[in-house]
Amino acid sequence: MTAGTRPLRLFFALWPDEAARAALERWSTTIHRVAGGRATRGESIHMTLAFLGDCEPERLDELKAAAARVRVTPFDLVLDEAGFWKHNRIAWAGATQTPAPLETLASDLRAALAAARFAFDPKPFVSHVTLVRKAQPGFVMPALAPIRWQVTDFVLVRSVMRPAGSDYPIEARWG
Ligand code: 2AM
Repeated sequence: MTAGTRPLRLFFALWPDEAARAALERWSTTIHRVAGGRATRGESIHMTLAFLGDCEPERLDELKAAAARVRVTPFDLVLDEAGFWKHNRIAWAGATQTPAPLETLASDLRAALAAARFAFDPKPFVSHVTLVRKAQPGFVMPALAPIRWQVTDFVLVRSVMRPAGSDYPIEARWG
């Protein structure tokens, strides 16, 4: 890394349109009410496809070129399930039926990153939207109306740590 340049913390994600964002924010608020913890702010709600972590700023153009080789087949993502993972105390929104184009997008993107020699978190893709962190175990998940999210593109996002939580400015979009 060139002296003086700070690494960028980066990830690829699906970013909801306004309708899906508003509906997911309502889910987040409703779950937070019964589960406590920290609700994801509306403007931060997303689904991660691949998490790179620290990346050299000098490689940003190369990273964008790799992402631009990935094709998106538009699809509807129906979020009809809310769950809670005890191991990391995350309450999440998910789809009981993961659309095939979503699996394809995540695996094509990861293959493009690997081919361009970008490291990313190797944990398998598990489609979920984090809605509440540090939720209190034992809460009863409220009933929630399904959300239809029309996916047409994906984004590269920076993760900027702030005392009040992370900010996620969008760096680039492909679709
Ligand atoms: P999470 O919501 O399940 O915690 C920004 O941190 C985004 O990248 C979050 O959506 C987070 O998922 C995801 N992510 C995936 N792997 C990560 C890792 N190893 N470290 C931090 N965030 C990760």
